[in-house]
Amino acid sequence: MKRTTPTLAGLFLAVCGSAAIADDLPCAENATCMLTSSNGEPSATGDHLAQCSGTFPDFITDLDNVPPDYDGPFFELSQDYPSGAVSTDLPWEAFDFTDPDQADDYLYALRDYSFEGMIEADFVPSANSVRDWYHVPMMNFDRGARDMVHGVTKERTLPPGEIGLVNYVSNYAVGFYNAIGAETFGRVFADPGAPDISDTTFANGAMVFKILFTTAVPDDFEDSSNYILEGAPAWEVAVGKNELTTIRLLQMDVAVRDDRAKPSGWVFGTFAFEASATDPVAWNRLRPVGLAWGDDPGYTPANQAAGDPLLEGIVSAQIPKYAAGHLGWAGRVNGPVDNPASSCISCHGTAQYPVEAIMLPTSACDTIEKKLYYFRNLELGEPFGGVNDACEPFDYEGKLTSLDFSLQMQVALQNMLDYGDVNPCTAAPKTAVAAAGSAAERRILPRIER
Ligand code: HEC
Repeated sequence: MKRTTPTLAGLFLAVCGSAAIADDLPCAENATCMLTSSNGEPSATGDHLAQCSGTFPDFITDLDNVPPDYDGPFFELSQDYPSGAVSTDLPWEAFDFTDPDQADDYLYALRDYSFEGMIEADFVPSANSVRDWYHVPMMNFDRGARDMVHGVTKERTLPPGEIGLVNYVSNYAVGFYNAIGAETFGRVFADPGAPDISDTTFANGAMVFKILFTTAVPDDFEDSSNYILEGAPAWEVAVGKNELTTIRLLQMDVAVRDDRAKPSGWVFGTFAFEASATDPVAWNRLRPVGLAWGDDPGYTPANQAAGDPLLEGIVSAQIPKYAAGHLGWAGRVNGPVDNPASSCISCHGTAQYPVEAIMLPTSACDTIEKKLYYFRNLELGEPFGGVNDACEPFDYEGKLTSLDFSLQMQVALQNMLDYGDVNPCTAAPKTAVAAAGSAAERRILPRIER
């Protein structure tokens, strides 16, 4: 049953003139909830709803996205980041990811590690008794802000022509770091108002997975009778105007710090939903697309046309058909939702602060040499470097810090340090201060969006 907005108008009145904190806002009972401006500043007349169950906000959502009479579930950010030495089992280490006969096993080991206990918990980390999982803080602003139901953020929009679509479709995702990965976030975000990027590295065994969903329905495809998401797990999320939106599982990304991956230390892999698979649990119908441990520097579309193999990535023989038609630049490993002008490793290699490079080659990168700059292999901890508007590399006087391939960390830092977004859950919410290079002396690039 839907009701029109008087409820929310009533809430405005209820809190106006008093404190911005109100008991009757739609949010979790054990949390503090308040109205804020879009940048998180508490305000009795704010048009956003923030929920605080811990140090960082669970969600800060536009009131337009709150369905009338919505009474849960409410997303809670898993943010009790561990500190000190952390260990978990690392079942993927039994496999050699560079061996084409073992790459799928490596990927399935990562998928199953991610899903164990999580499917039953409907991806609520506190309900998972097998392993601890954590979310990245401060992904709460602008068009990509976390939703109030599952904490999904906006992903790249797929245009007509890609994966058989005839319409634009929106995509959403939520990511989870294991305990080893979360330890880094605990360090960087120890002070909730002032991130510390003096050590952003992830230890061997850090792992993160992200499940990606799409709004695409059969009629969005050229061949609606062959729906590639038939039987896919579905979620309802609060991303539409005053109503819930159904999204379906399309892709799963994994990234893992594995010391065997030279030189950068990371393996990136992805899966796509296979409607013809018959696994009883629908989540398990994800099939490997492929994995990469390097970016095949120097490899161009001419190499691809000549049939030269990739030397640092493996495309799986099990790849779903629509995903095989949607790889990255020159056939590098990439997923169905991802920008085909890039690749997993290329785009993630740009994770650095300050944000001094657009994350994928723009139209100004009009030569093969300029494009190839984006497909270098970085050493562990080496920042990507600055790239100017003409797609020329520039030296930023050693002031760039690598964020060790974490673009979610870059989103959080950019929100706080470049856009002045505020954490409303701290005692005295205030704008964080940039660690390197003040905004006045450098470019502020657009907010990172997939
Ligand atoms: C064109 C850029 C781009 C490409 C290509 C890309 N990603 Fe990402 N990815 C992002 C951005 C931006 C984020 C952070 C925001 C978000 O989560 O959507 C992200 C987040 C992630 C995360 C969450 C962890 C983190 O801190 O970044 C994982 C895991 C991930 N991507 C894996 C992959 C994999 C695997 C591929 C290839 C199949 C891939 N990505 C391709 C831009 C990209």
